[in-house]
Amino acid sequence: MHSLTAQIPELSNSYVCMKDPQKVQETLQAMVKAGSNTLQVISDFDMTLTRFAYNGKRCPTCHNILENSKVISDDCKIKLDELLKTYYPIEIDASRSIEEKLPLMVEWWTKAHELLVAQRIRKDLLATAVHESEAKLRQGHLKLFLDGFKLFFDHLHKHCIPLLIFSAGIGDILEEVIRQAGVFHSNVNVFSNYMDFDESGMLKAFKGELIHIYNKREGALLNTGHFQELRTRPNVLLMGDSLGDLAMADGVHDMENILRIGYLNDKVEERKQSYLDSYDIVLIENETLDVPNAVVHYLTGSK
Ligand code: TMP
Ligand code: MG
Repeated sequence: MHSLTAQIPELSNSYVCMKDPQKVQETLQAMVKAGSNTLQVISDFDMTLTRFAYNGKRCPTCHNILENSKVISDDCKIKLDELLKTYYPIEIDASRSIEEKLPLMVEWWTKAHELLVAQRIRKDLLATAVHESEAKLRQGHLKLFLDGFKLFFDHLHKHCIPLLIFSAGIGDILEEVIRQAGVFHSNVNVFSNYMDFDESGMLKAFKGELIHIYNKREGALLNTGHFQELRTRPNVLLMGDSLGDLAMADGVHDMENILRIGYLNDKVEERKQSYLDSYDIVLIENETLDVPNAVVHYLTGSK
């Protein structure tokens, strides 16, 4: 433990919990030894790359960005909010199994997408909706532009490390968030739910298979081409905030090492044990990217 925190001092922060620090150390050492040219990063978006709360107020997910914007009617806002109030408590309920939650999550996403499609949202209004939103990528503890998400995205880009953002949110919205933040670099790929627009630019459907929080494994297996291209990178840094996010790496070819960093944002006491059992490093109610940044710096030999 001592040498682990000597190598990565951020891991001694009080919000960091690890069930097996020795294993974390061994995994990190194996990954450093293999070199950053064998590394790929796979991250969830909502509440992982973006903040959960700011000044005591919840931050929006991709769906919430639309919900809070002018592109949605008041009636639709009420209905989407009712869905959120019904299904979000189920999403984070530690007393229900994933099997039990799965059909309910499909129900949530299906109903929400039907409501959005009925709004005939115009593609050309999405950028303004994002611009006017309260979307917030995670910063560092110094809250400087250069110590949070910017450092994270820029550093991975500089070291040519592929970053897959794997989201059950809305691809068009999350792309716009990272584009407007100036970090949609060429090493970033996105798997998500993309909107399908008709020839006049109105939303008519969502493309392809639905991705919800508990079918990321199926989503990963549908995208074999992406993982095939990255087959020389069998070492994975995975970041998520839901237990469903652990399946994001299921498509990786011949994985050698994986280090999983999990944000535990809500219902901490009820969920802590299950997060400790499945994520190697658990970050409890922490809004920064300090630990992922420190780990990425360590893995790329930068200080
Ligand atoms: P993620 O995979 O990028 O974290 O996105 C999934 C999140 O989106 C999940 O936490 C639930 C949230 N969500 C909403 O906030 N509103 C909705 O209408 C739906 C369907 C999902
Ligand atoms: Mg999430």
